[in-house]
Amino acid sequence: MTDVINPSTPQSEVSQNITPVTQRPRRLRRTETLRRMVRENTLRVEDLIYPLFVMEGEAQRETIPSMPGCDRYTLDLLLQEVREVYELGIGAIALFPLIPSAQKDNAGTESYNPDGLIPRAVQTIKQAVPDILIITDVALDPYSSEGHDGIVQDGKILNDETVAVLVKQALVQAEAGADFVAPSDMMDGRVGAIRQALDAEGWINVGILAYSAKYASAYYGPFRDALDSAPKFGDKKTYQMDAANAREAIKEVELDIAEGADIVMVKPALAYLDIIYQIKQRTNLPVAAYNVSGEYAMIKAAAEQGWIDEKKVILETLTSMKRAGADLILTYFAKEVALMLR
Ligand code: PBG
Repeated sequence: MTDVINPSTPQSEVSQNITPVTQRPRRLRRTETLRRMVRENTLRVEDLIYPLFVMEGEAQRETIPSMPGCDRYTLDLLLQEVREVYELGIGAIALFPLIPSAQKDNAGTESYNPDGLIPRAVQTIKQAVPDILIITDVALDPYSSEGHDGIVQDGKILNDETVAVLVKQALVQAEAGADFVAPSDMMDGRVGAIRQALDAEGWINVGILAYSAKYASAYYGPFRDALDSAPKFGDKKTYQMDAANAREAIKEVELDIAEGADIVMVKPALAYLDIIYQIKQRTNLPVAAYNVSGEYAMIKAAAEQGWIDEKKVILETLTSMKRAGADLILTYFAKEVALMLR
């Protein structure tokens, strides 16, 4: 026997005096091919939904300082971006509008203007890239002078009055050609009201992607910068969920399913992987996770400092969401990931 351990030396010769091990999980990690073969979860470009910010004007694109790599686009430039991401294999986009403050009011009236920015964007994209799925956000905050998701009265957010506006908003979006409407407002009863109205108007094939378990989260900060939609007073804790609650998420999901949701969503994703997991155990509907703006910004910021390997951290983070049970992931990384997976 030689002193030097040659890489080809059988393990039996170097470990003679060691108790035999019967289970060797490392056997299945030996090579990349083998690891790929036994891999339990895979991130696919088909799983990704790309959120995009649209603004009025022409030939302009504005950076969002807290979301490096994500811009706001005027519709003409947005079209190019949509074509590009569709070519990369991304099958769905979620649209969010930057509304000029002059068009904002407490009742979010602009949200159901049939000639508004979102309906125009939907129509234009549908014409140019008919096969990409378009998901439109249903909530008042981008249109609200108060920066809230509902109508404000005496410092309180009205529920049923808001739902009536959300229904009008969803109908206008369906009329424009949205494939899914996505209520993100957390008003009670809105999924049922929207489903009923869509069906009554003949939009039986327009789906509802429900933000079912949406938490009152500090991770939304950069998104509110992007849309200039931060609340003018208070916070969103009387309608969005308490970060400490899990059973309540299940209740919200059950209600949304009973009211007619087609896909249920958990938001944010990373700090709520346990919620994604629990919901996946309880429903056969597809489960979506929203990898929100603050989660995006943290990775971007650390990567810019050179403190983490950006690409690896992105893939690891999104894979953790799949492992937790997410079928779909809304993520600002969608385009980067599509390029990586190519
Ligand atoms: C608004 C809405 C928010 C997000 C999506 N829709 C912000 C909020 O509730 O204040 C956040 C998305 C993100 O942070 O990426 N209804």
